[in-house]
Amino acid sequence: MSWKEEVQKVADEFIYTNEDVNKGVKEFLREMDEGLSHSGSTLSQIPTYVTSVPNGTEKGLYLAVDLGGTNFRVCSIQLRGNTTFSLTQSKVAIPRELMVAKTSKELFSFLAKQIEVFLKTHHNDHFQAVVRRRRTMSISEGFREEEIFQLGFTFSFPVQQHGINRGTLIRWTKGFDIADAVGKDVCVLLQDEIDELHLPVRVAALVNDTVGTLMARSYTSPGKTGTLLGAIFGTGTNGAYVEKLKNITKLPAASGANYDDSTGEMIVNTEWGSFDNGLRVLPNTSYDEALDKESVNPGIQMFEKRVSGMFLGEILRRAMLALVKDPKVMLFKDEDSSSNDIHSTTNIAPDSPLFTQWGLDTSFLSIVAGDTSYGLKVIKQTLDKELGISAASTEDAEAVKVLAAAIGKRAARLSAVPIAGIVHKSGRLGKTSASASHAASKVKEHVQNLEVGEAAKTAAEGVQASAAPVVDLPPTGGVGNDEDDVVDIGVDGSLVEYYPGFEDYLREALREIPEIGAKGEKKIRIGIAKDGSGVGAALIALVAGPLTASPPVSPIREKK
Ligand code: BGC
Repeated sequence: MSWKEEVQKVADEFIYTNEDVNKGVKEFLREMDEGLSHSGSTLSQIPTYVTSVPNGTEKGLYLAVDLGGTNFRVCSIQLRGNTTFSLTQSKVAIPRELMVAKTSKELFSFLAKQIEVFLKTHHNDHFQAVVRRRRTMSISEGFREEEIFQLGFTFSFPVQQHGINRGTLIRWTKGFDIADAVGKDVCVLLQDEIDELHLPVRVAALVNDTVGTLMARSYTSPGKTGTLLGAIFGTGTNGAYVEKLKNITKLPAASGANYDDSTGEMIVNTEWGSFDNGLRVLPNTSYDEALDKESVNPGIQMFEKRVSGMFLGEILRRAMLALVKDPKVMLFKDEDSSSNDIHSTTNIAPDSPLFTQWGLDTSFLSIVAGDTSYGLKVIKQTLDKELGISAASTEDAEAVKVLAAAIGKRAARLSAVPIAGIVHKSGRLGKTSASASHAASKVKEHVQNLEVGEAAKTAAEGVQASAAPVVDLPPTGGVGNDEDDVVDIGVDGSLVEYYPGFEDYLREALREIPEIGAKGEKKIRIGIAKDGSGVGAALIALVAGPLTASPPVSPIREKK
């Protein structure tokens, strides 16, 4: 066997056949039902208590913060009461040590501090006025109701929600690991730190990024039909969809929460990153196995570990390293440097990130997939720059391309599984728009006309004001369909946005699923809701306002 065949053999381990896809969908449907009927299932199916919507006449300043990956974002949305609003946002990278801090206080006090900086920078007049009034006021709470900023908290980790602004952390994902936060109400953790800084801010809604994406997409998507699903394919992966209240049979027992049930529907956060943790149907190569074993959370987020941006680079790194270590395989060993750029010996730097866990970023896969240059120059340059592998040959670059494509393609085909499951379960493929969704189309009806007002101007460094918080790219599927006869899906995340061909591979797999088929696949419209989670959170804080008249309070403070 030639060394190229050896490489191909490894790439073939990542083939995810049509039969596998179909097995996956069946299991996903089973786990969906299981998760709707009881707690503790592998697919969490978390009720979000989001069932009601704004009506476009609300006024006021709403805050939203977003914690879920590498950055923490704070934004404010000024609703003018005449269906227009403006948005200001800031972004700060979360220091690595805070992701694995000893105590949750370290992380949450950092977040509260960012909110304070943001308020002082962008809403100083309002902030100072509140502080002045508070000093002179006699009521014990110190604030008048109308002076408090309502905050939508996008927290993109698995949380057991107990109400619209109540939720306990089930587990960390995406490299975060702060043991004492697990089991605690994250709204309380944030509220306590906000109160310690005496900020006039109430955590009014707790929102997963997928839910925000679904809300945001729902008012920007063309046509009357409400969006069915909001999905993230970024650092992590997950989806939230509109489910009939009567199907969420675990709800009465699990709640006690206050929510409006008039739409008969509720958004459910699937937490599909943990689909099939038991590995009944998911593919499992030796590289997946080793990655999981050496991760901070072995045995969980097994779907996410095969699909999302945090992990694909690491899978590729492990596959490449195994081949480099194999004496039969000439990868980066310079048997044939005749075609490398500088006709010199290929060399792997001893401190190459190839030898370090998480050394290879997933953006590398996107670069590799996008290189169509003669002699794969871009791949060679990237190998040099990112991995310290100098003078790689064209054969080396080809081998890397074959491997990376196999891993990327498997991720995209796997992504078809939850999408197909949810679309099929919704019954929307066989329906007309009129019966599609009450909750989502109500969202649409009420907020569709919200136009982005003139963006707030800001001079502060690193802070952008945006006139278009949600970018609605032309749909890539469903073209040629009646706009109201589509099943609309909002997506966000680096993978779906930047990995070349991600959606094509995903659609290819969808067509192979009998419950969807070629006809059904055409009806599925997928659109980017860029940074929708922040805007969605503010919208949810807005609708949640009346339901959350009091801030989340820690049990200790309640006892006083
Ligand atoms: C989290 C989800 C989140 C997803 C995308 C996953 O790791 O568990 O809550 O929605 O990442 O950010």
